[in-house]
Amino acid sequence: MDFKGKVAVITGAASGIGRGVAIEMAKLGADIVTADLDDKNLESACKEIKSLGRRALLVHCDVSKDADVENLAKQTFASMGKCDILMNNAGTAVRGPVEHLTVANWEWLVQINFLGVIRGVRAFLPYMLQRGSGYIINTGSGAGFNATEPPGLFESNIPYAATKFGLVGLSEGLFGYLRPKGIAVSVLCPGFVATNLSANVHFVGDDEKEFQLKPEDIQKEKEALFSSPDVETPEGVAKILIKGMNEDRFLIFTHAGMVKSFKEERGQDFGKLEQHLQKKFPK
Ligand SMILES: NC(=O)c1ccc[n+]([C@@H]2O[C@H](COP(=O)([O-])OP(=O)(O)OC[C@H]3O[C@@H](n4cnc5c(N)ncnc54)[C@H](O)[C@@H]3O)[C@@H](O)[C@H]2O)c1
Repeated sequence: MDFKGKVAVITGAASGIGRGVAIEMAKLGADIVTADLDDKNLESACKEIKSLGRRALLVHCDVSKDADVENLAKQTFASMGKCDILMNNAGTAVRGPVEHLTVANWEWLVQINFLGVIRGVRAFLPYMLQRGSGYIINTGSGAGFNATEPPGLFESNIPYAATKFGLVGLSEGLFGYLRPKGIAVSVLCPGFVATNLSANVHFVGDDEKEFQLKPEDIQKEKEALFSSPDVETPEGVAKILIKGMNEDRFLIFTHAGMVKSFKEERGQDFGKLEQHLQKKFPK
């Protein structure tokens, strides 16, 4: 895919994977619309994009709000005139024992991780359909295919996995519907990536001592994660994503070891699924 002169809209672009992808696409010649809640880090991302000689637009956007995502599309078309790539990437997690989660806890997460993506699709898809081209990337997770790993962590991560399973289903449906219409859809499926995700997680029971995770516990978890031999960097993920886009793949996994273990332990054959979908829905 030639990124030169393309416009990419990326949610969650202030940090981690979104920021890594924004910089990598800018290096390849794309102009970037950066969207996030975090204006301060968005500003520095935009500065970096501009230093690469590309245009950058900063849009404050909470993907859990209809009006913010509608405004994102409005600002994009007013300022950049088009949208070639939409990356629905903003995401977070609610962590805590499932028996203590309130419906409000579930709602908070679903509003961001699932409905946030639907809002993005609603805001940009009519334009892409009219044009007969475009590329939608949704950031899923390995947890979108396996809700019972890793031991010791999955038990408090059930809501996150549930939203990511939903996202994979949504993305597969969109792939089948949109590929014959000239619009590509991929789901990025990261394993562990060194980002600020754990710092942004909402811990259920924050006000109940027994479930509270102290800042030092979060730091410990982060250190363990970041020192794991399996951890990827946001820059590494961005390169893997772009390679997957160039190979026209629906499923873009960041960790080969994860794919291998899902196949061996759970019988999930993603190579086969990829082939099946590509054949069933030709361009
Ligand atoms: N880091 C990992 O190990 C990992 C693994 C699998 C999937 N993912 C997914 O990758 C995506 C990016 O996460 P990351 O790891 O880069 O984390 P991150 O916390 O570094 O970045 C996420 C960004 O999303 C933004 N965000 C959060 N809620 C938002 C909202 N309501 N509206 C707009 N922006 C919002 C945050 O401000 C932050 O800048 C997420 O969807 C996450 O679920 C991450």
